[in-house]
Amino acid sequence: MVKKAAVYVLGCKVNQHEGEAIKDLFNNAGYKIVSFHDQADVYVIHTCTVTHLGDRKSRQMIRRAVRQNPDAVVAVTGCYAQTSPGDILDIAGVDLVIGTKERSRIVELVEEAQKGSPISLVGPRKELTEFEDLPFARASTVRAFLKIQEGCQQFCTYCIVPHARGPVRSRPIAESVDAVKTLVQKGFKEVVLTGIHIGAYGQDLTGTDLNALLKQLIKVSGLKRLRVSSVDPNEVTPELLATLTREDIICPHYHIPLQSGSDTILEAMRRPYNTAYYQRLVTEIRRHRPDAAITTDIMVGFPGETDSLFRQSLEFIRKLRFSELHVFKYSPRQGTPAARYNNQIPPDVKEARSRQMIALGKELWADYAGNFLGAPLAVLVEQQGDYGEGHTPNYLKVRFPGGEKMRGSFVTVVPTETLDGYLFGDPKGGA
Ligand code: 5AD
Ligand code: SF4
Repeated sequence: MVKKAAVYVLGCKVNQHEGEAIKDLFNNAGYKIVSFHDQADVYVIHTCTVTHLGDRKSRQMIRRAVRQNPDAVVAVTGCYAQTSPGDILDIAGVDLVIGTKERSRIVELVEEAQKGSPISLVGPRKELTEFEDLPFARASTVRAFLKIQEGCQQFCTYCIVPHARGPVRSRPIAESVDAVKTLVQKGFKEVVLTGIHIGAYGQDLTGTDLNALLKQLIKVSGLKRLRVSSVDPNEVTPELLATLTREDIICPHYHIPLQSGSDTILEAMRRPYNTAYYQRLVTEIRRHRPDAAITTDIMVGFPGETDSLFRQSLEFIRKLRFSELHVFKYSPRQGTPAARYNNQIPPDVKEARSRQMIALGKELWADYAGNFLGAPLAVLVEQQGDYGEGHTPNYLKVRFPGGEKMRGSFVTVVPTETLDGYLFGDPKGGA
């Protein structure tokens, strides 16, 4: 009988890709991957702890797996497993806790856990020293995600991530170039570079940084698009800015976490920049690439965020014309400085601010996307069904009728309307 494995993933994009990689590991070992709702022999819950909701949902999914098949091996991996292994081992039915290292050995560890009492492999942060190479993940047959960096050592006052993921480790340049070459040979047209704190790439290696890496990757022949998933504002050096905005192959989509549009709050968060700096950076990007999509993370309800500071933040964000906002409600994380601040914001205020910020995000998206109606856009077709679907270089999602046999090719679409986060239009042929 073929064994079945089910993987449930919580949290950020990096986690999603790691979850895909874990599925591949089981698949390669001969397991059949089934849905989390099905009976499986192994359940993996790849957890998140960035907010308390991540913790709660992680525990819920662990309990659900145990209920679904009490005889299955239940393995818990990821950030919540790394920071709170004790809480997880307290849940009856958990067999294996892995954390953020040794995930590449998961299949063998699961088979070992089958034999006896629960195993925890979670060690202290200082043991998180290696860059662990997991199989790459894919969003479709045409876009692949390559993790080039792990960990963070910035310790912003709200953030548990440096504890969960450990210090900065980078995939060396030569290995990254080889990985991209392999992806291109496999037929991928677009490679998305991912990591926990990509701007810190190379801090653990000598004489290298993100800019040096990009300069090598753009030379890989056959690669059509290179996307950098996120970079912190203070890490965009003039040299990096020049590469990001002047190399055609690099997509004009820049996700630059701002967190707050108030200098008072940025300082309390210990973010190493202010709004004036951020605004100059955005102006500079638009000088070179006027159509660039600039997207960001915003946290509302940080301790000390008064109504007036929140309003300042909203105004700043509106003025900067972001094309998308990822909005988070501040969640106190045990062991971080901000959790001990005495000016915490009540949950209902956080909720109201979050709603307002999300509404602003939708407005800004509609304004941005509206600028592209009637203009020809280059779409890399990722899916086909009733509609063809894909992204533009500036990460607009486009749908068009037809799309038969177009997956993996570029088409030009002239959009005529925006709806539910998509631009709709007719294809005009190859781009
Ligand atoms: N509460 C809420 N959001 C958080 N983030 C990080 N830590 C917290 C926290 N304690 C958000 C930040 C970060 C994103 C990945 O998660 O906005 O950029
Ligand atoms: Fe967290 Fe700040 Fe590191 Fe981002 S840079 S992971 S917000 S500590």
